[in-house]
Amino acid sequence: MKILITGGAGFIGSHTVVELIEAGHTPIIIDNFSNSEKWIIDRIEKITGQKPTVYEGDCADKKFIADVFQKEKNIDGVIHFAALKAVGESMEKPLEYYRNNLDSTMTILEEITRHKIGNFVFSSSATVYGDPKENPIPEIAPRQPATNPYGNTKSIIEDIIRDLASADKNFSALSLRYFNPIGAHSSGLIGELPKGTPNNLVPYLTQTAAGKRKELTIFGDDYPTPDGTGVRDFIHVVDLARAHIAALDYLKKQPKPFYDIFNIGTGKGTSVKEIIETFEKINRVKVPYKIGPRRPGDIAACWADPSKINKIIGWRAEKTIADALKDAWKWEKNIS
Ligand code: UFG
Repeated sequence: MKILITGGAGFIGSHTVVELIEAGHTPIIIDNFSNSEKWIIDRIEKITGQKPTVYEGDCADKKFIADVFQKEKNIDGVIHFAALKAVGESMEKPLEYYRNNLDSTMTILEEITRHKIGNFVFSSSATVYGDPKENPIPEIAPRQPATNPYGNTKSIIEDIIRDLASADKNFSALSLRYFNPIGAHSSGLIGELPKGTPNNLVPYLTQTAAGKRKELTIFGDDYPTPDGTGVRDFIHVVDLARAHIAALDYLKKQPKPFYDIFNIGTGKGTSVKEIIETFEKINRVKVPYKIGPRRPGDIAACWADPSKINKIIGWRAEKTIADALKDAWKWEKNIS
């Protein structure tokens, strides 16, 4: 299949491009490189032996996107990763987040409907569940009002896609609600590239282990969890990438119009302390850390019930937390 990947040079996007190529598909990347690097494309070629076609530009640029759809005939589907994604920044710059994330999605959707393509896969997030009443979280759990503009864009876009699927008989789509992607490609050639100080746990951890940061702060050890630290469903980015290929294969077979939502997680919760301990053990490296106050907006625990995608699509996460932390460390050492 010829698949358009917006944000294809990003963390999840680049791993998905690799998996698509390895599954025999033809990815076409659109990226404005605002939060990614051009050399990631060379790394994709190094891993797969194939250089994907890349269009550099912004998904919210109507003319640019129309040209790409015009030039690339016979697109079979679109995976839409391109978005601003920093929770804290979204609270400081809400308009920027709404403008970027909504405009880019609308522009892509307009072209998809114009060309009667369908087969749209959207990068949603477990953030739409808010602070869940219980874990693991099934897809039927209610969404809760987002606590930040970034999260709200995910919820709003899910609604736009649902509405389009009920209006346009040529449209089919899936929203994939990711839990916490971590790790890197096992080659150590591609991985996460946070700009500035990392917000997320694992990049902060690897940078601390590499000596780039003095120490890691655990944001609170007084949560109602077994060891008091936050619990999340950390999923290896390669497992997550593979979920997209399985999802597209499934979506292609569904009669149009079609829309559904799937959680992408392992089904297992792991605490912040367990992540640090596993990292230290698997990589034989010490990570200095201290306990600090809770981070505003954080929840105690959140992990997926992935049984829907396990049963219906037949995908399940295969890699362990130790695999992910080994690969993340290999990547960090390569870029340090
Ligand atoms: N944490 C620390 N120290 C750090 C960074 C994080 O203790 O330096 C803790 C957090 O408090 C939390 C856990 O590690 O308990 C995970 O935090 P992350 O920032 O890595 O991830 P979040 O669960 O906060 O957020 C992630 C994505 C969001 C997405 C959300 C949805 O970053 O984009 O999952 O579940 F919205």
